Amino acid sequence: NIKSSLIVVSNRLPFVLKKDPKTANLRRVASAGGLVTAVCPVVIKGNGLWVGWPGIHSSKPLYDIPESDPNDHTPTAGLKSEQVVCVDADQEIFDSYYNGCCNGTFWPLFHSMPGRASFKEEHWRNYVKVNQYFADKTLEALERCHKRKNASQSVPIVWIHDYHLMLAANWIREKAEDADLPCQMAFFLHIPFPPWDIFRLFPWADELLQGILACDMVGFHIRDYCLNFVDCCQRNLGCRVDRKNLLVEHGGRSVRIRPLPIGIPFDRFVELAQGAKKIFETKQKIILGVDRLDYTKGLVHRLRAFEMLLERHPEHIGKVSLLQISVPSRTDVKEYQELKEEMDQLVGRINGRFTTANWSPIRYIFGCVGQDELAAYYRDADVALVTPLRDGMNLVAKEFVACQINPAPGVLIVSPFAGAGEMMHEALLSNPYEIGGAADVIHRALTMPEDERTLRMSRLRRREMECDVNYWMRSFLKAMGSIEEDEIGTT
Ligand code: UDP
Ligand code: G6P
Repeated sequence: NIKSSLIVVSNRLPFVLKKDPKTANLRRVASAGGLVTAVCPVVIKGNGLWVGWPGIHSSKPLYDIPESDPNDHTPTAGLKSEQVVCVDADQEIFDSYYNGCCNGTFWPLFHSMPGRASFKEEHWRNYVKVNQYFADKTLEALERCHKRKNASQSVPIVWIHDYHLMLAANWIREKAEDADLPCQMAFFLHIPFPPWDIFRLFPWADELLQGILACDMVGFHIRDYCLNFVDCCQRNLGCRVDRKNLLVEHGGRSVRIRPLPIGIPFDRFVELAQGAKKIFETKQKIILGVDRLDYTKGLVHRLRAFEMLLERHPEHIGKVSLLQISVPSRTDVKEYQELKEEMDQLVGRINGRFTTANWSPIRYIFGCVGQDELAAYYRDADVALVTPLRDGMNLVAKEFVACQINPAPGVLIVSPFAGAGEMMHEALLSNPYEIGGAADVIHRALTMPEDERTLRMSRLRRREMECDVNYWMRSFLKAMGSIEEDEIGTT
């Protein structure tokens, strides 16, 4: 019983458009993330809209968006073309916004790695510009929503996602007020919000805070990120704040700040795990890593810890392998290209050092694996290593436990610097910076008695089942007053 329709605004649409090489027609290719799984049904049901970039640049505005393929059964399939609003920009401007500002500045800075961040005025100018484009398109969407709205519906909710769009709310609020198009506005950050002494390094920090504070409600994964944000509002802008109730006074309004930890489509992963074919044909134990190839994921540290394990505990040689799946990501950014080189060399060196005629320590997949196949890896792995140096939440940790349906479960190792590490108390914690310590934690996981593994895993699974992505969606709608308290429940 959702009272208002939802306009979702995110850098990427829930699908990309690809040109069919034969017909030159555009077709949709659906994305698989949890955000799409949870949010799309609500947009579809409430006759809402999704504003975003379709993954291509075109010379003319894209109004004629193809419907989804008839045999597409993903959650985006029901999203009609008229519910999609495409944002486009000149390729050069978009690159400067996306590679330059979003991934060259905000990504490292917000992950507390300021040494990797570049601060270029031109990138910032293009970030401002592209946020204005998104705001203009959101206004179009809001107008359409108001035309369709029936009398019983409350005002639409505009929900802006992630670090790409921290300014857009500013112009949306201003223009919506001028055009008399009432709406409620919310922002959700999918990455960490850094402490003040990091955040303040950004030369245009005040503008970012003002952009976010144009919303009525601001969500982060965990309370620490909320408190960092509140602190920045107080120290940078001089706002009056209430830390206990997480409120920030700004422009005569009281902005609500809320921890809303995202979950996964738990039942879907259980089903995938139940249906997936066995992939490992080996008796060796498998330690699994699944990550975008990103320097925040602690991949180099992870490989070194694994090497240390083989050094300190040679009894694992020939009996344990590390399977690392690394998905190519943001390949136009220098830091990512350098990481690729470093990983290739390190995998080569460690394998060169330990490989025997019948065994290699590391199997390295550089590519993207579908979630149906991923479910088999998650189900049959003995240990999952989720050891980022910093991570907003980390869904892989949650997907792994959902898929652990075998009677003798495996062990999750998680970094305390991931949002997931804050909540998944029954996992083994490992500080990725402490290589020797991490090697010892892996050894402990590999030798943990079955009854302890079973107890830990059943508790981890119960929490993820209850606090799944639908629960997250309902918590958001409740925080916006769009569903009643008693509708929040669990699945
Ligand atoms: N993923 C995937 N195929 C792969 C590797 C990862 O579909 O080969 C998915 C994975 O299932 C998860 C997401 O990518 O849903 C990664 O999310 P996470 O929060 O762990 O990290 P992010 O990439 O958002 O930083
Ligand atoms: C993180 C961000 C998302 C982003 C994803 C993939 O999860 O929070 O906003 O979409 O990484 O990165 P990409 O740059 O390929 O969109």
